[in-house]
Parts: sequence; C-alpha cells; structure tokens
Amino acid sequence: MNKNFVSAVGVTMLAGTFLLVSHATATEEYDVKAFGPKSPIVWQKPVKVVFEHRVHTDDIGLECGACHGELFAMQRGVAPRTGKLSMASLAEGQFCGACHDGETAFASDTNCIACHVVPEDPIVWTKPVKAVVFYHQVHTEEYGLDCDSCHNDAFAMKKGAAENSSNFTMKALYDGQYCGKCHDGETAFASNTLCNTCHIGVKGYNRMTGADPHADEQSGH
Ligand code: HEC
Ligand code: HEC
Ligand code: HEC
Ligand code: HEC
Ligand code: HEC
Ligand code: HEC
Repeated sequence: MNKNFVSAVGVTMLAGTFLLVSHATATEEYDVKAFGPKSPIVWQKPVKVVFEHRVHTDDIGLECGACHGELFAMQRGVAPRTGKLSMASLAEGQFCGACHDGETAFASDTNCIACHVVPEDPIVWTKPVKAVVFYHQVHTEEYGLDCDSCHNDAFAMKKGAAENSSNFTMKALYDGQYCGKCHDGETAFASNTLCNTCHIGVKGYNRMTGADPHADEQSGH
C-alpha cells in the first residue's frame, strides 16, 4: 500500500467509514477507466473461475472491444446466466475460448489452474464413514500433480460429488477408482495400508471442524 492510501485511511478514520471506501479506491494505481474493473470477475458455478481485467488490458494490451461486443456484456454475471458457459462451449470457441484456443492464447483444455482456483480448505467426506480427508496442496504442490490427473476422470471438480455415489467405498479404491487410481502401491502408497493417513475418524473430524468433542459421547448415553 502506498503513502496516499495510508493517509487516506488516516483522514477517513476521522471522517467515518463511508469515505474509506471511495478514498481507498481513488488512490489505487490501477486506472479503472482505461483498464476495466479492478476487482476480478468471479464466476462460482459450476466451478469457481477467476478473470482478471488487469492482465488482459493493462499487461497484454487488449482493447475493450476485443471482448465487449460479441463475446461478453459489460456486466458481471451475464455470461453464466446464459447457461451456456462450460468447458464444452469454450472448446467450441465461445466465451474465453474465442482466444483460448491454443493459438491466440493458451488452450482452455490446458493450464487449468490459470482460470480455476485450487481449493485451500481440505475436502472432508463423512459418508459412508466419518471422516476421510483430502488435501489439494499436498497433491498439487508437494507432489506436483496436474489438475487433470484427477479432474474429471477420477473426481468431478465439485466437493461432495463422490460422496453422493453409492460406490465410494474401499472396494472401488482397490479396483483402481477414485483415490485408488494412484493409491495402488505403485504410483502412491496402497489403499489397503496406512488407513489413518486418509481416515481421520470422528475425533479428527471434530478437531478439524471445531465441533464439540463431547457431542458424540453424550449422544451415546
Ligand atoms: C479479455 C476479455 C475482456 C476484455 C479485453 C475486457 N473485458 Fe470487461 N469484462 C470481461 C468479462 C468476462 C466480464 C464479465 C462478464 C460476465 O460476467 O458476463 C467483464 C465485465 C466488465 C464490466 C462489468 C463489471 C461489473 O462489475 O459489472 C465492465 C465495466 C467492464 N468489463 C469494462 C471493461 C473495459 C472498460 C475494458 C477495456 C479497458 C474491458 N472491460 C476489457 C472481459 C473483458
Ligand atoms: C480477446 C482474447 C481473449 C479472451 C476473450 C480471453 N483471453 Fe485470457 N488471455 C488472452 C491472451 C492473449 C493472453 C496472454 C497469452 C497467453 O497467456 O497465452 C491471456 C491470458 C490469460 C490468463 C493468464 C494470465 C497470466 O497471469 O498470465 C488467464 C488466467 C486468462 N487469460 C483467463 C481468461 C478467462 C477466464 C477468459 C474468459 C473469461 C479469458 N481469459 C478470455 C486473450 C484472451
Ligand atoms: C481459459 C480459462 C479456463 C481454463 C484454462 C480451464 N477452464 Fe474449466 N472452466 C472455465 C469456465 C469459464 C467455465 C464455466 C464457468 C464456471 O464453471 O464458473 C469452466 C468450467 C469448468 C468445469 C465445470 C463443468 C464443465 O465441464 O464446464 C470443470 C469441471 C472445469 N472447468 C475443469 C477444467 C479443467 C480440468 C481444466 C484443465 C484441463 C480447465 N477447466 C481449464 C474456464 C477455464
Ligand atoms: C489427486 C487428485 C486431485 C488433483 C490433482 C486435483 N484435485 Fe481438485 N478435487 C479432488 C477431489 C477428490 C475433489 C472433491 C471431489 C468430491 O468430493 O467428489 C476435488 C474438488 C475440486 C474442486 C471443487 C471444490 C468445491 O468446493 O466444490 C475444485 C475447484 C478443484 N478440485 C480444483 C482443482 C484444481 C484447480 C486442481 C489443479 C491445480 C485440482 N483440483 C487438482 C482431487 C484432486
Ligand atoms: C493422481 C494420483 C493420485 C490420486 C487420484 C490421489 N492421490 Fe494421494 N497421493 C498421490 C501421490 C503421488 C502421493 C505421494 C506419494 C506417496 O505418499 O505414496 C500421495 C499422497 C497422499 C497422502 C499422503 C500425504 C502426505 O502428507 O504426504 C494422502 C493422505 C493422500 N495421498 C490421500 C489421498 C486421498 C484421500 C485420495 C482420494 C480422495 C487421493 N490421495 C488421491 C497421488 C494421488
Ligand atoms: C488413500 C486413502 C485411503 C486409505 C489409505 C484408506 N481409505 Fe478407507 N476410505 C477412503 C475413502 C475416500 C472412503 C470413502 C469416503 C468416506 O467413507 O468417508 C473410504 C471408506 C472406507 C470405509 C467405508 C466404506 C467401505 O468400504 O466399507 C471403510 C470401512 C474404510 N474406508 C476402511 C479403511 C481401512 C480399514 C483402511 C486401511 C486398511 C483404509 N480404509 C484405508 C480412503 C482411504
């Protein structure tokens, strides 16, 4: 943050929080008129996508008209409401896919992490048993796995999807599905070993979610 920002905050501390917002924005270096909205466009459904104007206009030098015309309305949320926004439509050259086709810009079926966000919070399943935990960071950062090594073959990009399937069981894992695609004793430790690295149990679940550790004991009485 620059000095102007700090002094703007100082002034507005006296003037009240209403002004804080406008002062802080006005002193940002990013020229909103020339480069488009400062805050990223975030689409939540079906999976989170983040689009930065700054990168496309300020850094890459695209004109507003490259997108605002046929491809996108100048209003957040219009594209998702068409119901046509998906990886399939991108692959057909629509929306972001008009440029992200492997020629003008990197193709939409590569570099998933550029547009999508790796979930920071662990994925925790409570069905059929409580509880199994999965950490993205361990797999993507520590072991360097690409998003498409799991998505969308072994797993949908949606928390809870596997859990709603009746075959999300150890048998399926032993058959090479879900985690068992890799946890087969070759690519990664086998699914019939080290139970507790994946299974955190009820106690681990309570610790992680901050649930009352005595809740289960009490319900047992
Ligand atoms: C590479 C594509 C691209 C370029 C270039 C681009 N935009 Fe956008 N813009 C978008 C997308 C995508 C959205 C969100 C549309 C949606 O959600 O349907 C958007 C939304 C907007 C919005 C609406 C923001 C809101 O909060 O509702 C404004 C204003 C805007 N753009 C201005 C600009 C201006 C000004 C320029 C040129 C300086 C520009 N854009 C260049 C892709 C682009
Ligand atoms: C008018 C053409 C155009 C459109 C439409 C477009 N992009 Fe891009 N985008 C580019 C170009 C050109 C680059 C830079 C070249 C490259 O990285 O391949 C780029 C780069 C990017 C990057 C890399 C940014 C970085 O930090 O290096 C991301 C992420 C991205 N675009 C996301 C999107 C998303 C999401 C959409 C749809 C909402 C979109 N783009 C629509 C042209 C476009
Ligand atoms: C250029 C940006 C971009 C890149 C790169 C990209 N996606 Fe997407 N993705 C989108 C957009 C836009 C949507 C539709 C809007 C939404 O879901 O919020 C989407 C939606 C999805 C969906 C929801 C269901 C569907 O099929 O549409 C999945 C799953 C998905 N992407 C997976 C991936 C995977 C895996 C990769 C890498 C192989 C990838 N994406 C790369 C932009 C991108
Ligand atoms: C080793 C496997 C694996 C890899 C690699 C992986 N994921 Fe996932 N991802 C999962 C699992 C498992 C889920 C939860 C699916 C379920 O509950 O059915 C998930 C869910 C998600 C979700 C949905 C989160 C939510 O709150 O709904 C997103 C977004 C996601 N992954 C993005 C990514 C991105 C981006 C990458 C690459 C950087 C990536 N994943 C790499 C296994 C993986
Ligand atoms: C695409 C391959 C792949 C898939 C699918 C996969 N993993 Fe892994 N996982 C690995 C690799 C590679 C390692 C590191 C090597 C090892 O520990 O054997 C690892 C390590 C782990 C570890 C040890 C983490 C640590 O702290 O070192 C746990 C726990 C784990 N995986 C859980 C899971 C769970 C739960 C699933 C299913 C939801 C899953 N993995 C799916 C490849 C995968
Ligand atoms: C690589 C991760 C992983 C390892 C290792 C693992 N499990 Fe699982 N286990 C899962 C997942 C994922 C599920 C399904 C989600 C849930 O039940 O919460 C599951 C479900 C189960 C279930 C309920 C479903 C069924 O198959 O009956 C039992 C019981 C179970 N595991 C026992 C074990 C035992 C015992 C071990 C050690 C010999 C073990 N698991 C090792 C990931 C693992």
